[in-house]
Amino acid sequence: MNFKTQNEIGSSRIRRNLMAMLLVCCSCFLAKAQTIASPNKNLSLQFELKANGVPSYQLTYKGKPVIKPSTLGLEIKDGASFMEGFSVTNTEQKSVDESWNPVLGEQKTIRNKYNELVVTLAQAKNNNRYIRIRFRLFDDGLGFRYEFPKQEQLNYFIIKEEHTEFQLAGNHKIFWIPGDYDTNEYAYTTSKISEIPSLMKKATVEINSQWPIKELAVQTPSMMKSDDGLYINIHEAALVNYPAMSLQVDATTFKMSSHLTPDAVGNKGYMQTDAQTPWRTIVVSDKATEILASKLILNLNEPTSYKDVSWIKPVKYIGIWWEYFVAGKSTWAYGKENNVKLGQDFSKLTPNGKHGATTEHAKEYIDFAAANGFDALLIEGWNVGWEDWINNWKEEVFDFTTAYPDFDVKAVHEYAAAKGIKIIMHHETSGAATNYERRLDRAFEFMNANGYDAVKTGYVGKIIPRGEHHDGQWMVNHYIHVAERAADYKIMIDSHEAVRPTGLNRTYPNWIAQESARGTEFEAMGGLNPDHTTILPFTRLMGGPMDFTPGIFQTDLTYYKTGGNQRVNTTLVKQLAYYVTMYSPLQMAADIPSNYTRFPDAFQFIKDVAVDWDNSYILEAEPGDYITIARKAKGKDAWFVGGITDENARTATIVFDYLPAGKKYIATIYADAKDASWNQNPQKYTISKVVVTAKTVLKQYIEPGGGVAISIKEATAAEIKGLKKI
Ligand code: NOJ
Ligand code: CA
Repeated sequence: MNFKTQNEIGSSRIRRNLMAMLLVCCSCFLAKAQTIASPNKNLSLQFELKANGVPSYQLTYKGKPVIKPSTLGLEIKDGASFMEGFSVTNTEQKSVDESWNPVLGEQKTIRNKYNELVVTLAQAKNNNRYIRIRFRLFDDGLGFRYEFPKQEQLNYFIIKEEHTEFQLAGNHKIFWIPGDYDTNEYAYTTSKISEIPSLMKKATVEINSQWPIKELAVQTPSMMKSDDGLYINIHEAALVNYPAMSLQVDATTFKMSSHLTPDAVGNKGYMQTDAQTPWRTIVVSDKATEILASKLILNLNEPTSYKDVSWIKPVKYIGIWWEYFVAGKSTWAYGKENNVKLGQDFSKLTPNGKHGATTEHAKEYIDFAAANGFDALLIEGWNVGWEDWINNWKEEVFDFTTAYPDFDVKAVHEYAAAKGIKIIMHHETSGAATNYERRLDRAFEFMNANGYDAVKTGYVGKIIPRGEHHDGQWMVNHYIHVAERAADYKIMIDSHEAVRPTGLNRTYPNWIAQESARGTEFEAMGGLNPDHTTILPFTRLMGGPMDFTPGIFQTDLTYYKTGGNQRVNTTLVKQLAYYVTMYSPLQMAADIPSNYTRFPDAFQFIKDVAVDWDNSYILEAEPGDYITIARKAKGKDAWFVGGITDENARTATIVFDYLPAGKKYIATIYADAKDASWNQNPQKYTISKVVVTAKTVLKQYIEPGGGVAISIKEATAAEIKGLKKI
C-alpha cells in the first residue's frame, strides 16, 4: 500500500496533472524499436531488440550520444537467464506531471515530470515467461528498471549477475572511487576513463574492513564529463531488497557494466515475484548546475507510507565527538582493559581517566548547545563495550542500553530537557548487524523511555552475519528494517558506514542523513584533498543528504600537541560555506565548543544558518573545481549562500535574483582574508555587511582552498543606513 503523506496529498491535489496516454499495442503491430523523448525534447531514448532477441537501449541529449547502444539483461543462477531470446509482446507509454512536497528537503515542492515507456518482453523458449523494462525519461535524465511480474512460470530465482551496460560515447573525464563491497570512504581520483587501470592501485588506499572488487570497477554515483561538455551521472534509485551496484569498467571501449555486491555464498540477489530491480539512473545535462539541481533520483523513489511525519524535524547539533579524534584528551572507552564482555561489571574496570561521555562533560556541552541555539547534542562513548569494539569481528560488542558507570542517562536527559536540548543516541554496531537486530526493540524502547528521538548508527568493521558485505542485499534490507522499525518509535536515523544512499529518504523520511563517504573524520586521519567537497555533491550527495560534519574552526591540528603534523585542508570560511553547499537536514557543528568561543563572529553564521529549505538555487558549479549555492530558509525570509573552491583561487559570481524584487536586504559576507588559504593563515577572515537587492551581482574573490558564506535578511531603513550598497 502506498499512502501519501498529508503533504504529498495536498500538493498533488493542487498541481496534479496526470495525463495518461496509454498506448497499448498488440504484438503483431510492434515495431522493432520504440523511441520516447523527454518532456522538453532534449533527451531521446530508444529501445530495441537486437539479433537473437537481446534487449538494447540508447540515449541522446540534444542530439549528442550519452549512452550508445547498450544491452540489458540478467544472468540467473541454475536456470535460464534473462539475456536473450526475447520478443516484445507489449509496449505502453504514458506522461506524468505532478508535484510533491518532501518532509525535509532542498526545496518545498518537487516536480515529477516524465514520459514513460514500458516494454514487455517474453521468452518463447522458456514457456513464454516475461519481464518488463520500465523507462522514465525526465528533462534531466533517464531512469529504468527490470520488473518481474508474478506468473506461473516465474516465482523464485537467484541473480548471478546483472548485465546492464552503459556504453559511453568517449574517454570521459571521471571522478571516481574504487569499487568496493564494504566501504565508500575512499578519496576521489579525477582522471580519464582510460587512466583508471593505472591509477586503481594508488586509489585503493587502506580503509577499515574494505573489500575492493577484483575486477576493474568504480562506485556510483559516478560523475563524468565528456570532451564536448556533457555532464553524465550514473547511479541508482530505490535500492530495496537488492544488492548495491558498482560499475565494471572497460577502459579501452569506455563501456561500463553493472556489477552487483555478492552475499556470503557468492549469490547476488534472491528474488520472488512480484519483484523489481532498483532504478538505474543517468542524470545528464550540458550544465553542471543542472546535475546538482536534479531531483530525478528522489522522484524515482516511492512516496512515504508514514501517515504522521510531524515528528521528523531538521536538526542542528554539536557532539562529544571531534575531541576523540584530535584533542587526545578523551576516549570512547572507559576502561584500560582490552578484553571485555557484555554482562560483566563494567564499574570494576580500571578507568583510563580519559572517558569523554561523563555526566559532567555532557552537561558542559548541553550548556553550550543551549546557549547557542542548537537542537541537539550527540554523545558517543556513553555505553559499555568500547574497550575492544574494533577489528575483532566480535558479535556482541554493545547492548545499546547499558551506560558506563560515570554516565547517568536519566540525569543527562533531565538536564538537557530542562534546557530544550535533545540528546542524539549513538548505536555503533561494530558491524554486528545480527546483534543489533536482536536488540533493536529494546534499544528503541530505551530511547523512548529516556527522551531520545534520533540515533546515529554505525557499521565500522566486518559485517556479521560473517561473509556478508555492507552493500549486499542482506545489509540493504537491514538498514531499511532499522529505519522502518525506528519509525514505529518515532525515531530519526543518521547512519554511518551504511550502503550509499539512493533517495530512500523520500520513502523513509526519518532516515534523515547518512555518512557513506569520506567525511570530516578523515581530516584527522591524513586530511581530505581541497577539491574533495567540490566533488562530493556530484557523487555521494546525488543519492541523499550527507552527515559530513562540517564546521572545523581549529584547522591546524598541531594545535592539540598530540603528535602528527596534520591540518584540515580548508580555510575557516570554507567550513562555513559547507552548511549551504553540502545539503543535509541534519548538520553538525563538529568542532570542540572552545574553538567556537574563540571566533564568536564567525560562529554566528553557524548559529544563523538554516538546515531545511523552501528553495535552492545552484548558481555556479564545476565538479572538482567549485560550487556556489544559494538557499531560502524554510518558512522564513532568510537566504544563505555558500561558495567553495578547490586548491585554486577564483572569483565567484554571486547573483541575488532569487530575492523578491524591489526590496533591500542586508547581506553579511564572511570571506577569506587576503592572505588566507587552506595551508596559510586558514583562520583569517573578514566579515562585512552590505545592502543587496535582487539586481545585485557580487564578484567575490575566494582564496585557494577557501570559501564564502553569506547570510541575507530583510532590513529596516534604520538598519541599512550607513551600509554600502553593492
Ligand atoms: C565512524 C563514524 O563515522 C564516526 O563518526 C564515529 O565516531 C566512529 N565510527 C565511532 O562510532
Ligand atoms: Ca565513517
